[in-house]
Amino acid sequence: MSLDIMKFAPLGDKKNSNFFNDYRLKIYQRRKESGLEDLLNNICALVVQVETGDGLSYLEELYLMTPYRLLCTYLNETHKIYFLESKPEFPHYVVLEPLDSHFTDDLTRLNMLYPLARKKPNARYVGEIFSVNDLTETRRVLESQNVRFHYPDETENKFFSNPHFYFTFPSSITGNRVGYTPRGSYDIEAMEIGEKFELTDSETRRLADADAKAKDKGTTNLILGVDHMATRILSGEREDAILEFLTMSNYYFWGAYNIADQNSSTNVNRNGNVDDDKTSPAKVFTANNTPSFVNSFENLPMPTEDFVRNFGRRMHHVAYEVADGDHGAGVKNVDYVVETLKSFGVPFLAHVVGECTDTPNLKQIFSKHSEYSILITEYVERCFGYEGFFTKSNVAELTKAAGEDERYHHGNIFD
Ligand SMILES: [Fe+2]
Repeated sequence: MSLDIMKFAPLGDKKNSNFFNDYRLKIYQRRKESGLEDLLNNICALVVQVETGDGLSYLEELYLMTPYRLLCTYLNETHKIYFLESKPEFPHYVVLEPLDSHFTDDLTRLNMLYPLARKKPNARYVGEIFSVNDLTETRRVLESQNVRFHYPDETENKFFSNPHFYFTFPSSITGNRVGYTPRGSYDIEAMEIGEKFELTDSETRRLADADAKAKDKGTTNLILGVDHMATRILSGEREDAILEFLTMSNYYFWGAYNIADQNSSTNVNRNGNVDDDKTSPAKVFTANNTPSFVNSFENLPMPTEDFVRNFGRRMHHVAYEVADGDHGAGVKNVDYVVETLKSFGVPFLAHVVGECTDTPNLKQIFSKHSEYSILITEYVERCFGYEGFFTKSNVAELTKAAGEDERYHHGNIFD
């Protein structure tokens, strides 16, 4: 399938400006003319950094909560690098763990600006890597369009200095990087990532135990793959964030929904070349409708901008699709997955939202944020072949639950 994005009419009730609509089409047109459209393929990896000492614990968490399993481990001058895989056609998950607990780079400095992010200054979702047909040409085209790439001497993090990956400078609008790596030669062995290293026996045992625990309950196969990643940004930067991502990717703007009672909107961008979002997950931006400084006129809840004020602009959650179906009489798979994860000690926010009785619908839930990655994990089941991407009522409930948890746990942020 390949969608004609020039003709696609975006969905949703969130109004966009003429500026946005004009430049959206101009960007698509330029991508085609500059060859970018043919250079870029799917998202082939998601990159997350954790604190020194948190690597194995984060992997254990991923073993329980996701289908990702360790593929290989490397050591470079600054980091341990863990590559995880679910299905070969889905993106890899790359975990970076600094060797030195005093390690700092541009992402650390970004985290240090925000009161709650400061507690884990190296824990951060970094960005996605796109597979490309020609790395040099991709960079040449993007640089000619003012996309700012990172130069090897601009960060202490050696993973970003690898000649086989090109990463953009962290976006001032989203805090995320976008990476590019050649397709076909995305052969990890040939990427000069560092020295291979082996986990210790006890580390191997920890992961084997987590794997056995999840497999024993049958949850591993029910959690299919990453459906979308959602970044939280400031109100006034919503349209710019979308246009920036459209400039740097081969995604199209699918639609935006107004979540009025949470003073928020959800803005979805998808890869038009794939039938299954899990092979190149959707990229979502959430932003307040009005900025925090005028929100007090209406006094609505505003969990989206509260999050940005506390943690900075950054990735908020990664969502996994759960196989549609029943696990025993009247128990949907997502309910079974969540109950099982709770029995493993994984904490969740509130309850599963959305009803799956007999008509197509969505069931969704947010976990509490990981203490290692700071990311929330979302689970979504599209019941009875529900074709939509999300429902407004579910998003309103999920957004509310995340906001209440943040307030409950952190109270006065200046504590
Ligand atoms: Fe989501």
